[in-house]
Amino acid sequence: MKASIVVLPGDGIGPEVASAGVAVLRQIATRFGHEFTFAEHAIGGDAIDRFGDPLPPQTREALLAADAVLLGAVGGPKWSDPNAPVRPEQGLLAMRKLLGVFANVRPLKLHPRTAALSPLKPERTKGVDLVFIRELTGGIYFGAKTRSEHDATDECRYSVEEIERVVRHAFALARTRRRKVTSVDKANVLETSRLWRSVATRVAADFPDVALEHQLVDSMAMHLLTRPADYDVIVTENMFGDILTDEASVLAGSLGLSPSASIGGPGAGVYEPIHGSAPDIAGQSLANPLGTILSAAMLLRHSLGLTEEAAAVEAAVDHVLEHADLTRDLGGTATTHAVTRAVIEACNAKAEAA
Ligand code: NAD
Ligand code: IPM
Ligand code: MN
Repeated sequence: MKASIVVLPGDGIGPEVASAGVAVLRQIATRFGHEFTFAEHAIGGDAIDRFGDPLPPQTREALLAADAVLLGAVGGPKWSDPNAPVRPEQGLLAMRKLLGVFANVRPLKLHPRTAALSPLKPERTKGVDLVFIRELTGGIYFGAKTRSEHDATDECRYSVEEIERVVRHAFALARTRRRKVTSVDKANVLETSRLWRSVATRVAADFPDVALEHQLVDSMAMHLLTRPADYDVIVTENMFGDILTDEASVLAGSLGLSPSASIGGPGAGVYEPIHGSAPDIAGQSLANPLGTILSAAMLLRHSLGLTEEAAAVEAAVDHVLEHADLTRDLGGTATTHAVTRAVIEACNAKAEAA
């Protein structure tokens, strides 16, 4: 098949991990006889430096015409002055809104070797297989903001429609898994959470074969560490999902392992690791590329419908997690390039064996 993929390297380790994702996709194209074209565009701090805009018009145009988008990460100390008029992260948020990708899918699967690096005891993390559906285009991230010399505000607003579509997505996904949805909110305090909870309860009536439980976000942060294996699909609003998914990544051994897919819009889906631009390790080939490579596998599956190809990438990553030297975040000494090469070699070896 033919597919045009927009690549947004961004800042910090973004370009390092994005090129790892592209290298794996190129290898998959060769092995399975597909024609993928890759077009790089500017986003974030890089785009501010070059065009004065974190999501310039030429990037917007390319995004609207793409079949799928692979993103590294944006941001960094250079652009982080709290009084800066424009920020890299605004480019990321504008892209999500432009593409209407309201459902951010963040799966968490544990591999025995890397789970051993988790600060949690092995008996706590045994059997963990969960997926977060994080609402991505609403809530406090997108509400009106004000700032004066004396105070500042961020408005948090959710419509019934915004809640309903993401909760439905979570229930539909749960039907393909262990049929359990945990909806996370702060309904004991927030009006938006009370609306969220009532919509989730109403939607649940359409899925009688799926169990729904409600969980307050503060105790959820605790339960994620004490009984993570009890969860299947977790659905929550934008900011709670941002925070809980970084927390959950620790169960797998490293933030650098977690992939994501942002889907649900009329056009292209966006695939990116959940981590940021990691300024502390940028430019040293220390970045773990596996979160981005697993995001590329999600791209193959969700945007291109290439199930076998996605499984081939995931199997190669499993092989590397089992046998290869890994990056420093996972206790290894391998570079970003070496781990990427190991994934590509594992893909090739499997192809030759087949
Ligand atoms: P971060 O995720 O960039 O880094 C947190 C810690 O995890 C750091 O110690 C970093 O070295 C480590 N880490 C992250 N990814 C890694 C990888 N692939 N391999 C090995 N180690 C990895 O979070 P931060 O430091 O709070 O934020 C830095 C910048 O990134 C900020 O400007 C923030 O806004 C931005 N950010 C961007 C995205 C995105 O583009 N999607 C996501 C999160 C944060
Ligand atoms: C993420 C990031 C972004 C978010 C920031 C950089 C705007 O943390 O993708 O998880 O909060 O959504
Ligand atoms: Mn985040």
